[in-house]
Amino acid sequence: MTPSPEGLSSRRAALQLLDAVLRRGQTLDSAAQKVSLPDRPLALAIAGETLRRLPDLDAAIDGVTRQRLPDDAKARAVLRMALAQKVALNVPDHALVATALPLVEGGPRRLVHGVLGTLLRRGLDLGKEARLPPEVEARWTGHWGEEVVAAARRAIMRRPPLDLSFADPGQAAGFAAEQGGEQLASAHVRLHGGRSVAELPGFGGGGWWVQDLAASLPARLIPPAAREVLDLCAAPGGKTMQLAAAGHAVTALDRSESRLRRLSDNLARTGLAATTLAADALEWSGGPFDAVLLDAPCSATGTFRRHPEVLYRARPQIIAEAAALQRRLLAHAAGLLRPGGTLIYAVCSLERDEGEAVIEAAGDLRLHPVEAAELPAGIAPAPGGWVRVLPGMLEEHGGVDGFFIARLVRPGA
Ligand SMILES: C[S@@+](CC[C@H](N)C(=O)[O-])C[C@H]1O[C@@H](n2cnc3c(N)ncnc32)[C@H](O)[C@@H]1O
Repeated sequence: MTPSPEGLSSRRAALQLLDAVLRRGQTLDSAAQKVSLPDRPLALAIAGETLRRLPDLDAAIDGVTRQRLPDDAKARAVLRMALAQKVALNVPDHALVATALPLVEGGPRRLVHGVLGTLLRRGLDLGKEARLPPEVEARWTGHWGEEVVAAARRAIMRRPPLDLSFADPGQAAGFAAEQGGEQLASAHVRLHGGRSVAELPGFGGGGWWVQDLAASLPARLIPPAAREVLDLCAAPGGKTMQLAAAGHAVTALDRSESRLRRLSDNLARTGLAATTLAADALEWSGGPFDAVLLDAPCSATGTFRRHPEVLYRARPQIIAEAAALQRRLLAHAAGLLRPGGTLIYAVCSLERDEGEAVIEAAGDLRLHPVEAAELPAGIAPAPGGWVRVLPGMLEEHGGVDGFFIARLVRPGA
């Protein structure tokens, strides 16, 4: 028996990850739980890079095959992965061929060998802008226009910077100066150049946590005077920590016990305090609270830079189901507020149906427009008074995740 080429098991795992995402609609992270620890980093990198450039990789493959390979053909999956390793991971040609062919053993090995040989000989140029899946491009062009889609195409090609939120805003400035970071908001530091969390000073000490700048905006809009604050879909707790650090008395509720354990670990690490509750937000009653933060479960399409698989998972039915749940969560959350209390509704989604359309149906709640001065420079409120964070915003600083945020008030104080 010939020995397996080095790295074959990681490629096999990557193939399974792609299948889990594209055929079964799983997230990469959840599918990766089944991959052995030694294989996991490379398998995730290969699957992630493949998803990042999928339409362009397919175009290259289709350009040299006489008969179009079906979308779900194993040969196509293996070719996509091999080519992604070429363009994004600098894997030498001999290694990517040697690890691709055993994956189609007993199948179209000659075809895969032929296509790879042709493309590698010609040189693979996928262009500077990645095409997004056609249905996503059509939907986002309809929602936000061509310029935003062009910005999203550029954004998916770049490694996003590392954003940190600080418990003590006073510490952020010193950290930024020391580490060569930039501050785009108070209590925030952005680091460029692929810095890893483990190498940064103070992680164990708990003064800061990783949080995209856009994801830090909802908690910033909770009124400072609100005492009792409910964080309704709280885990893993980025926003809970912001609220606790700002001095609110926080109740952090989430349906998932395992995610809530991560929230408790995060609180322990940062030395911040919140009451935690494992419950279904739709069934839970309590309060009334001075403010509620509803960071609702969503398609997460705004996180496509770090999680390119969201572009494939967010099919129309998934978006419609999420939107229906978001409306129910918003209606229930409104009932947990005292009259005059503030509700911040947020989703890390680039879909109108999960943002603007949800608050248009917000019943008695009144929109309290967000002012430009409440947001970092480069992110302006939408004319309607809510915040729609889009690809292209802060692009020269490394961009931000897509988000929708609205501040609503329960009438009758
Ligand atoms: C977008 S994530 C929250 C992220 C979190 N706010 C943060 O900043 O770290 C959505 C959360 O909603 C929770 N969730 C989904 N449906 C829920 C429900 N019916 N009741 C309570 N939590 C729910 C999920 O477990 C998930 O942790």
